[in-house]
Amino acid sequence: MAKIVLIQGSLNPNSKTAIIVDETVQVLNQKDIEHKLIDLRNLQLQFCDGRKLEQYNEDLQNAYKLMEQAEGYIVAMPVYCYSVPGPLKNFLDITCSAMEKKCAGIICNAGGVMSYLASSELMKILSYEVHVLSVQPTVYSYGEDFEEGKIKNPKVISKIHDMLNSLLQII
Ligand SMILES: Cc1cc2nc3c(=O)[nH]c(=O)nc-3n(C[C@H](O)[C@H](O)[C@H](O)COP(=O)(O)O)c2cc1C
Repeated sequence: MAKIVLIQGSLNPNSKTAIIVDETVQVLNQKDIEHKLIDLRNLQLQFCDGRKLEQYNEDLQNAYKLMEQAEGYIVAMPVYCYSVPGPLKNFLDITCSAMEKKCAGIICNAGGVMSYLASSELMKILSYEVHVLSVQPTVYSYGEDFEEGKIKNPKVISKIHDMLNSLLQII
């Protein structure tokens, strides 16, 4: 059973959100913490239309099963229009019932420094819909935190450690 399931929510092939997620996975490996990654770029996504889970494709059903078994989550969102991007929201519409009453750490990656509160949109969805509490701090990054496909701001890496420590204390 995966203790932590990470959900990488950008479909961009050159995603910066995915860079933060990769770093988080490395820290989990160093700490020897069991985890599984769901990268939305690797799934065949279908639109949520209210059908039963069994009527979605295998990728979505498998993702749901993985999420059901987890003790906690790390949900990584790029910021689109000051909010959760459509594909991630759609994925959560289909699968978030698997997360009921557990805890999540949040990674939020934006273009600019001012979009921090977009992460509260994700917190609201998780909290109101499935009573998932989000731990603090949120890991926030934006364009200037990266250089040549790597994280250049040490504060971002330190936030990853802080977020993970908070999550691990709870689960
Ligand atoms: C449709 C769209 C809307 C965006 N809206 C915002 C925004 O509201 N605030 C912001 O800071 N950046 C915004 N951005 C920039 C993205 O957050 C930025 O490119 C980020 O790196 C995306 O994450 P990714 O590289 O993992 O895909 C937007 C980008 C797109 C494509």
